Amino acid sequence: MKSVRMPVPGVSLGCDYNPEQWSPDVWREDAALMRRAGVDLVAVNIFGWSNLEPSPGEYRFDDLDEVIELMHAHGIRINLGTGTSSPPPWLTTLYPEVLPVADDGTTRFPGGRQAWCPSSPVFRDRALDLVGRVARRYGNHPAVALWHVSNELGCHNALCYCETSAAAFRSWLQGRYRKIETLNEAWGTSFWSQRYGDWSEIQVPRLALSLRNPAQLVDFQRFSSDELLGYYRAEAALLRKHSEIPVTTNFMVTAHIRNLDYWSWAPEMDIVANDHYLDHRLGDPVAELSFAADLTRGLAGGRPWMLMEQSAGAVNWQPHNLTKAPGEMIRNSLTHVARGADSICFFQWRASAQGAEKFHSALLPHAGTDTVAWREVLKLSETLDRIGEVAGTEVEADVALLFSWESWWSAEGEARPSQAVTYLDQVHSAHAALRELGVTTDVVPPDADLSRYKLVVVPGLYMISDTDAQGIADYVAAGGRLVVTYFSGIVDERDRIRLGGYPGAFRDVLGVLSEEFAPLKPGDAVTLSSDQKATLWTERLRTTTASVVATFEDGPMAGIPAITRNEHGEGIAWYIATKTDMSGILAEAAGLENTKSDKEVVRRRGTDRSYLFVINHGTTPVDHPARGEDLVSGKRVDGVLTVEAGGVAVVREEVS
Ligand code: GLA
Repeated sequence: MKSVRMPVPGVSLGCDYNPEQWSPDVWREDAALMRRAGVDLVAVNIFGWSNLEPSPGEYRFDDLDEVIELMHAHGIRINLGTGTSSPPPWLTTLYPEVLPVADDGTTRFPGGRQAWCPSSPVFRDRALDLVGRVARRYGNHPAVALWHVSNELGCHNALCYCETSAAAFRSWLQGRYRKIETLNEAWGTSFWSQRYGDWSEIQVPRLALSLRNPAQLVDFQRFSSDELLGYYRAEAALLRKHSEIPVTTNFMVTAHIRNLDYWSWAPEMDIVANDHYLDHRLGDPVAELSFAADLTRGLAGGRPWMLMEQSAGAVNWQPHNLTKAPGEMIRNSLTHVARGADSICFFQWRASAQGAEKFHSALLPHAGTDTVAWREVLKLSETLDRIGEVAGTEVEADVALLFSWESWWSAEGEARPSQAVTYLDQVHSAHAALRELGVTTDVVPPDADLSRYKLVVVPGLYMISDTDAQGIADYVAAGGRLVVTYFSGIVDERDRIRLGGYPGAFRDVLGVLSEEFAPLKPGDAVTLSSDQKATLWTERLRTTTASVVATFEDGPMAGIPAITRNEHGEGIAWYIATKTDMSGILAEAAGLENTKSDKEVVRRRGTDRSYLFVINHGTTPVDHPARGEDLVSGKRVDGVLTVEAGGVAVVREEVS
């Protein structure tokens, strides 16, 4: 495995910096203030293109030169954007064919950002020309510590339905299926008279009069992810030609963006980096933060990663943009560190006075430095300095949760048993239940080596290949413990139903067979024989080799098994056929007591040292057994660590 070369030693503090929005005297004030705040790393030139190339072929690097020198003089390292995330207006005026097209066939115009088609050869040529210039100019500058390709690739433009994309989709399909007959089989085109005689007949899945072909939609997602990855590769290859500095781009492992299969992207990154914002549209945004951090660590193969962006306070793009209470941003940051981040960066340094993000928080708010927000930044900076020695250590976890973007795309097809059942809800519920039990979970792909885990949790894994299903069954047969939840194992990679009863791929390992789904209306609930309430989903389940743990007491499936337990080889596999509190089963499967807590406890371990992170999300102090030194407070801990309400502790543990 590649070792990770972080841009700055220790646990660094960083931010996006957009000097284009300010005058040179503000740059100087900013550099001095950054130093005061202990900023180690700034991302510049993220949206630099229209400044660097104000008209076609006319280049101006003096402002960027000056900013880089200024940062260098202040001992601040540069996370250098290639500048290509948003094309300048001249480009889309000269080449309107670069503009993306939505699924209704209408063009998306400039005026926002990222208005480019991922398959556009014109865009790629012009962008790579700029990247080459930036790479040659700054690729060996001593302040430059990291390359930041574009920005959040695919945030807005992942799915483009223009004719250029259609041609690229066809050649991608030819690469995947070789013969048109194989594609016809894979897409099930005998249904609704969709049989293709020639590749040229295939379209991108624009909106249709009725439901679209689900297998075509899934392949379009795969294609779109690959297309942007190809674009990333082109920029990265050019950077590597001119420079030895590590290359990355910022992922969006988050609840509202799902278009890129980051399992295929991650191996291409020198450092895995993620952007994460608390999403107050979710039931439990803080639990989702922990999930996203665990998934990012999974993408990084367990090695340290960077939090490339988060917010100091409110964002501006949700319907109701909640700020963070004092202490909250520090808890968020330390949760990311606990779960493997060695760098904590923010969008952005100075709050914008103009533009679409003028109501987005920043490290330096509109009101300046005499503010609660600024004092929180200073406190975070000091805390990160104090815990710097945890950098390079890895997170300890013996439970895995399987996650798949392909399942996310396919499980949420246009026509499915219940629109109220979503993939992410199942994943988040399982992860949150483990977190409340105090379990640290690795989030891994369905083809991961599972042998070292004591428990593997498979929430709603709708699509799975034969090989991956076999790997999971073998893991159980060899003594592993498995918990699978409803709407799992239903289809193969072609989105073709696994016949013979649900949950198809997992029937044998779970020892059950389900004849029929019976989803519930949102708001309706049923009772289980274990007295728990359950919602959203029931099914006509029978056991083959499993024993029944709980049945549905009422509802459409009264008297039918709801939770089962199967001994398979040396291991045990549970099936939960409804949405209900999973903590009892998870605790039993993990061999833990079923007690929930507000404290988040995670351990990072190096070859000769370990660090215990305890984050108190509650409103009263919590105790935790520990011995060593709390790096945050500097105090010794002799047996019992007390963490104040809303507080954080990182104990360098003494080995007894
Ligand atoms: C993303 C982008 C940033 C900024 C933030 C706002 O993460 O990368 O440029 O727009 O969102 O939250």
